[in-house]
Amino acid sequence: MKIHLPLKVKKDLSYQIQIGNNIFKDLRKIVLSKFNPDKAIIITDENVFNLYEQKIENELIGNSSKFEIIVIAAGEESKSQQTRDELENKIIDLKPTRSSMIIAIGGGVVGDISGFLASVILRGIRYIQVPTTIIAQVDSSIGGKTGINTKHSKNLIGTFHQPSFILVDFDFLSTLPYEEYLSGLAEIVKSLLIASKSGFEYLEKFSEKILNREEIYLQKLIKESIRTKAQIVAKDPEEKNLRKVLNFGHTIGHAIEALSNYKIKHGFAIAEGILVESYLSFITNKLSEVDLFRIQYIVNRLTLDKNLRKEFSFNDIYEKMTYDKKKTGDQINFSLLREIGKCEINKTVSKELIEIAYNH
Ligand SMILES: NC(=O)c1ccc[n+]([C@@H]2O[C@H](COP(=O)([O-])OP(=O)(O)OC[C@H]3O[C@@H](n4cnc5c(N)ncnc54)[C@H](O)[C@@H]3O)[C@@H](O)[C@H]2O)c1
Repeated sequence: MKIHLPLKVKKDLSYQIQIGNNIFKDLRKIVLSKFNPDKAIIITDENVFNLYEQKIENELIGNSSKFEIIVIAAGEESKSQQTRDELENKIIDLKPTRSSMIIAIGGGVVGDISGFLASVILRGIRYIQVPTTIIAQVDSSIGGKTGINTKHSKNLIGTFHQPSFILVDFDFLSTLPYEEYLSGLAEIVKSLLIASKSGFEYLEKFSEKILNREEIYLQKLIKESIRTKAQIVAKDPEEKNLRKVLNFGHTIGHAIEALSNYKIKHGFAIAEGILVESYLSFITNKLSEVDLFRIQYIVNRLTLDKNLRKEFSFNDIYEKMTYDKKKTGDQINFSLLREIGKCEINKTVSKELIEIAYNH
């Protein structure tokens, strides 16, 4: 016997990204009036908590008994199965219901693991992203990719679960240590390279001001990067095609991060990935030499080239890459640049050519 089970699910998962200065104080009203959860579980990390405890208490929690707060250790190590276990138990102890929600306040680590938990707790509850690093504001908070790392490689356990709302308050960035600030610039460079030639030219023109943390210049590029990511995710939410452009620089970058045991900051690994994958674009995808030089120049100018390739052998990197991306025979799938502002997906490249680019 065969029974056909027709299943065509269409859902409107649209959400707002509110961007501005000093807007965190508006979140309380949005949570309580718009989303009205029976419980709002804030997840943050110890660095953000130490800096912003008073702000979270005064501007978000106030005298409402609906809020709970859970603090995890800071850093990539927290995107782990162990932290996932601990968080699951802490959240279940709070007896959430399907009308509860999670509020992630922090960088990409807090956002990725909170989103993951929101997707599995009670088979899915709502969550809000309040990104507090550049990487989280321009990239990880948007688009619903959630996940944790394993010993094999990054983000191998994860889900697509879109947030209900994102609040990007630039004010959080004022407390970012300079190294985190620089690391964040790498995701902006990637975003401009794949989709915004004019944004890249702006970065070239004002790189000095951006290095000096002149907010107004950075904020323009953050907005441009958010717009790019939102447009791409809206067209291809589950990375069937177009969304793969966002992986530019990440195939090599993730391998470096995993090999370093997550000690190397995400942005610096991605910057190295941008350099290698740009060279690969030059030798296999007709990226012009001029564009290649411009990319190398800007990565250097922003002090993002940490020469990480020297630390890891190509064979180890290649082994990690085979976990991160699907391998067809001896070929790895890349998203590669055709020119600055234009990226192409599904470019299979042989091990030999990847090695040439890696050792360049
Ligand atoms: N889901 C996605 O689509 C996506 C996209 C890009 C990156 N990511 C993930 O994001 C992670 C990297 O994000 P990240 O760089 O934000 O890492 P992170 O969350 O570890 O934050 C970096 C450091 O900055 C601290 N911090 C956060 N906000 C601060 C603030 N306002 N002031 C002072 N310190 C602050 C944190 O405590 C941490 O020590 C990686 O795990 C990466 O895989 C995910």
